[in-house]
Amino acid sequence: MNSSQWPREFPGAHWYNEEEENAVLNVIRRGTPFRHYGLNTPEYVASFEKAACEFYDVKYALGVNSGTGALITAITALGMGPGCEVILPSFMWVATVTAIVNANAIPVICEIDDSFTMDPVDLEKKITPRTKLILVVHMAGVPCQMDAIMNIANRHGIKVLEDVAQCNGGLFQGKKLGTFGDVGMFSLQLNKNMTTGEGGLVVTDNDLMYERLQTAHDTGYIWKDGSPVLPSPESLGWGSGRRMSELIGAVASVQIKKMPSIIEHMRGSYNRIKDFLRSNISDLEFRTLNDPAGHTGPFMIIRLKNEDQAKKAARYMKENGLPSIARLADYGLHIYYNIAQLVNKTPLSPSGNPWNLEKNKNSFYNYGKGACPYSDELFSKSIVIPIPSKLTVEQEKDAADVITKAVLKSRD
Ligand SMILES: Cc1ncc(COP(=O)(O)O)c(C=O)c1O
Repeated sequence: MNSSQWPREFPGAHWYNEEEENAVLNVIRRGTPFRHYGLNTPEYVASFEKAACEFYDVKYALGVNSGTGALITAITALGMGPGCEVILPSFMWVATVTAIVNANAIPVICEIDDSFTMDPVDLEKKITPRTKLILVVHMAGVPCQMDAIMNIANRHGIKVLEDVAQCNGGLFQGKKLGTFGDVGMFSLQLNKNMTTGEGGLVVTDNDLMYERLQTAHDTGYIWKDGSPVLPSPESLGWGSGRRMSELIGAVASVQIKKMPSIIEHMRGSYNRIKDFLRSNISDLEFRTLNDPAGHTGPFMIIRLKNEDQAKKAARYMKENGLPSIARLADYGLHIYYNIAQLVNKTPLSPSGNPWNLEKNKNSFYNYGKGACPYSDELFSKSIVIPIPSKLTVEQEKDAADVITKAVLKSRD
């Protein structure tokens, strides 16, 4: 197999056709790029939000400009600030931690388990009287153990934000991810299960939270009949200009309808490649799926016996037609100790915040390699393999052959 045969990942983009094209053209032709007014009546962001309420089975959905924007909006609406500790897993994306620091709160990194999502046992150990939020990340297509995590959160009276950027459309025990905690957030960036290039979404069932999400993502006011109006005193705040445009809403309202098919295709490819590999190498270890019916399939993670084998296998795969695979330790800003601004505690401003704030003085944590030893071990010997969203069975078999050879050769 050569790399030209292996498609790039970017799940939603492979499914673009004239439906997305017509929706965007409609916005241009009608002169309605802004969601609240225009030369004609705008319709797409509102219709995307309505479709999202139905898809996730939630009371409220709010389109925003990006996943990072969704995280910052949610963290503001949840009231995080100085004196608050937010627990998040060691395997995430830099934006997840950015949103915490941006609120002048302190990130606390928690171990992952063999599912490569937050380890509930370590989560409970990391709770202090200052813990105000658990930020779970349904990472790389796999749901977290939401029963155990919600049980811990409820026992300690701690709020939960779900980062579903990498598992949009996934389920845990039949319930859509993003609907277990106080707020769920999604990214619509290019690498995600549905995509608008850039874009994001927040969902909640709580009336006040929805109002707070609206003010936080916008001007501090909410919109009624084409104008900003004063919200309740609990929601009045400082907005952040993160509204979704109608052009994005147009693509999103088409993609959300396609997402079930996109996921079904990816999950099918994932499961078949896994079956091929299992029959080729009986002792190959795969990540735990937490809920095999609820994973979405965009990334397979395999665990080699040690770091040396993982490096050799990764090199072989890269050189033999799977260019976008990575050993997790080298997987950039997804790994806590690779995030330079976190390790260095780079302040938000020259005055040194949030690390030097009086209210944060009891929250002293290290973020360098070694802070989460179990995760470090997993990162060093595991490989992530993206699963594109429109593979043929031939391509699946070819990929399984390359992975099999890579693993067997690494053992020589
Ligand atoms: C886990 C996770 N959270 C948040 C984000 C941020 O999303 P965006 O790139 O849309 O800002 C991403 C996306 O890259 C992500 O992978």
